[in-house]
Amino acid sequence: MSSYRDFHRRSIEDREQFWAEEARLVHWQKPFSRVLDYSRPPFSRWFVGGETNLCYNAVDRHLPARGAQKALVWISTEVDETRSFTYAQLHAEVSRVAAMMQSLGVKKGDRVIIYMPMVPESCFAILACARIGAIHSVVFGGFAAASLAARIDDARPALMITADGGSRMGKVVTYKSLVDESLKLAKHPPKHVLLFNRGLDKSLSLVPGRDVDWKALEKSHADASVACTWLESSEPSYILYTSGTTGQPKGVQRDVGGYAVALASSMQRIFCGGPGETMFTTSDIGWVVGHSYIIYGPLIAGMTTIMYEGVPIRPDAGVWWKIVQDHKVAVMFSAPTAIRVLKKQDPEYLRKYDVSSLKHLFLAGEPLDEPTHKWITEALGRPVIDHYWQTETGWPLLSAVPAVEKTPLKMGSPSFPVYGYDVRLLHESSGKEVPEGEKGVVTIRPPLPPGCMSTIWGDDERFVKTYFSDFKGQQVYSTFDWGIRDRDGYYFILGRTDDVINVAGHRLGTREIEEAVSMHPNVAECAVVGVADELKGQMPIAFAVAKSNLSTAEEKKKLEKEVMDTVDKQLGAIARPKAVHFVTLLPKTRSGKTLRRSIQALAEGRDPGDLTTIEDPGALEQVRQVLGQKGKS
Ligand code: PRX
Repeated sequence: MSSYRDFHRRSIEDREQFWAEEARLVHWQKPFSRVLDYSRPPFSRWFVGGETNLCYNAVDRHLPARGAQKALVWISTEVDETRSFTYAQLHAEVSRVAAMMQSLGVKKGDRVIIYMPMVPESCFAILACARIGAIHSVVFGGFAAASLAARIDDARPALMITADGGSRMGKVVTYKSLVDESLKLAKHPPKHVLLFNRGLDKSLSLVPGRDVDWKALEKSHADASVACTWLESSEPSYILYTSGTTGQPKGVQRDVGGYAVALASSMQRIFCGGPGETMFTTSDIGWVVGHSYIIYGPLIAGMTTIMYEGVPIRPDAGVWWKIVQDHKVAVMFSAPTAIRVLKKQDPEYLRKYDVSSLKHLFLAGEPLDEPTHKWITEALGRPVIDHYWQTETGWPLLSAVPAVEKTPLKMGSPSFPVYGYDVRLLHESSGKEVPEGEKGVVTIRPPLPPGCMSTIWGDDERFVKTYFSDFKGQQVYSTFDWGIRDRDGYYFILGRTDDVINVAGHRLGTREIEEAVSMHPNVAECAVVGVADELKGQMPIAFAVAKSNLSTAEEKKKLEKEVMDTVDKQLGAIARPKAVHFVTLLPKTRSGKTLRRSIQALAEGRDPGDLTTIEDPGALEQVRQVLGQKGKS
């Protein structure tokens, strides 16, 4: 076995040969003529001229050898139901949905917004888009109508697909009513909404002419056969919106061929998932982890993928481990938050089940603290691999790569740069590489490897400006994360360099939350910061200046509640601040920039740092006071 260090070196020094070999893992209907076109930096086009299809690789390709094998197992502890689909059945389901979409006028290149709970139909819809070359954009169900409307206007979909509702902790969460609301706000609504009715929302109503009932339409396409549309490798496969430093979400655009190769390769080399084995990823289809490792990755690898609707502690804290036991899960992928939640429960739940089928547990999405890493490793008795990546990269960027070399794991570290990534830790102002043990910005020297974002949907300029313009005189991709490397070459991620926060593994921009808070008519100005939270990693806290005079505690409480409701309505409850503190003035520099870092430091009980540029020190004193007051109450 070659050492991982050599493997990685070859992926950088002999880039094209390396990826040409990896590309053999997927089916090419037409072979590519060039491995990489990097004639327009920083844009990279992988496998130029090659034609393939993600749905073909995920479904059709497996039909001869594993048509009767389970492809998808859906388990809902919310509605107490399990449904399984073999590859042959999945193929039939996806073909039907593809035909249904075509009957509603969806063509290659059209966008389709999918706003759905964790039901198998959402997986069919995603794969059906891929099959006919439509570009899906899945929006996480936790986002509210206004956020959905912003995404609709950016993507301009030909069709939206939704369900009446989902369920969380036994409570119905309506989806369709939110879609209705968002379509009233949107300037570019689609012609049709395809509705999968689960019978959860009793007050469901349909808009005649616009809304189409899934089950009724399905009847006319029961035996549909829809051929895969072959796509040139660099054509877009999907758009996934993610948060950044501005209030405007970015549409991360992904290609077809590069993504297929990166996923097929990572499934083998990183996740060690083989055909016939089972993978259980506990994320949601609305996030990148759901795209890559609930749907496309495991299916491309010919595995059985488990899709779970529910929470980790219901009916009890053993439910995930029971799934591992009952389905002989070989590869599991979750987030540190979930493990911290489980850590608070009775450890007996872990011992109750046989988890010996598990090769590894992979965790990503937010920093994995050393005590949690240690706890779960010991409790599970299996290796737990912390790995680091982003919506933008689509697959791991720092990780152990156990199928190449079983390098020892260090608690709290996502190990090393993944092959294909030329990672450099750069000093934030000089742009020079920092020595070991010193903190720097995690950057990637382009070309970005296959699988990473191709651009921002409809805005090449924003792509270059956002990601490649942080360091003067050199074009490098910035992850906006701080990192440090120890003397053994292991990396540690220290948090974001920008205003993005991570709440229970959900990525949110504090600017988006500020915009939502400011929608309240009585808010003149506000600052939102992320503060450390034992369970969720981080929580947003808002500091607001009210337009009216708030003299009593009751008035403040009332406005706080109203502001929280406004955030729920604008962005979704996942973005709701833990507290809203009212001040008469926000701490700013003399040039008018809000001192968010100082506010955050105070909120976390740290030193506020350099305050030489502050306009009015009294403003920071107010922050200190409101934090103190709340602390005592
Ligand atoms: O700040 C990093 C954090 O999550 C961000 C990316 O979030 P998202 O786009 O939702 O993609 C998640 C894909 C797993 C990163 O910029 N992050 C992700 N993984 C880790 C992490 N921080 C520390 N350790 C990790 N393993």
